[in-house]
Amino acid sequence: MKNRSLISISDYSKEEYLQILELAKEFEENPVQKIADGRVIASLFFEPSTRTMLSFESAANRLGARVIGFSGASNTSVAKGESFADTIKTVANYSDLIIMRHPVEGSSRYASEVSHVPVINAGDGANQHPTQCLLDLYTIMQTQGTLDNLHITLVGDLKFGRTVHSLVQAMCHFNTTFHLVSPDELKLPSAVKLHIKEKNLNYYQYTQMPDALQQADIVYMTRIQRERFQDPLEYERVKNSYVLNKALLVDVKPNMKVLHPLPRVNEISTDVDDTPQAYYFKQALNGVFVRQAIISKILGLK
Ligand code: CP
Repeated sequence: MKNRSLISISDYSKEEYLQILELAKEFEENPVQKIADGRVIASLFFEPSTRTMLSFESAANRLGARVIGFSGASNTSVAKGESFADTIKTVANYSDLIIMRHPVEGSSRYASEVSHVPVINAGDGANQHPTQCLLDLYTIMQTQGTLDNLHITLVGDLKFGRTVHSLVQAMCHFNTTFHLVSPDELKLPSAVKLHIKEKNLNYYQYTQMPDALQQADIVYMTRIQRERFQDPLEYERVKNSYVLNKALLVDVKPNMKVLHPLPRVNEISTDVDDTPQAYYFKQALNGVFVRQAIISKILGLK
């Protein structure tokens, strides 16, 4: 993985996922390891973020690296008309690694092509979010003791939810059965379903959430992605499609955990937060350990 960009979860193999998860466990047990002293990491967030940006910064700090960058490009020379390619080439001169989020699908791939330092995609539009995927895998492994042969129920915006696209692709390596709950307008794209079909795995589609809860080992809730809708009225129509509350958890499997990449709007009621099934805040914490592992591997430090 040394010096390799991470743009799509498919850029790395199953064996490489497992190496990252193993190293993340080491960081969870011993989080402060100053092995990146003297390294500079650029954090370029052209789109809002709380968890991804701050957990990457926290990870870099715990490794002893310095972080430069911006949150919102309005105070950079992008505002004067500088091209995206020139911005990336310039930042690459100042850093050993670029972490970037951008609203345009494919922007991270393009950045990796013009940059002479590796690029990590921290989310490109509705396309991919590979580091969220790796922390999701870590969390699934932590809660289930395995990644193999699980039933995963994914609920909400399966069309625009980039975390869903990356997670489905990755879980296809582990003989997963997928239960896909969404409004008709927000179904999982055919290109992502193709990964499931290529592995001859089973998937089932639903429009009602209760129909897909009982068999689940993991329920992966997602936000309806308002910022991706062209028509605000369309968003208004689907925004409250699914709300998971405590009452819906009565007949679930004993090992079932509720995950969510966060932020949530109203799709998980706060009365779920203190149930044994709620695991989404621990999931967000895992982002630090997994991102420490990813940075270390790409910088060739572990
Ligand atoms: N899960 C996630 O990407 O959260 P942020 O948008 O807060 O980074």
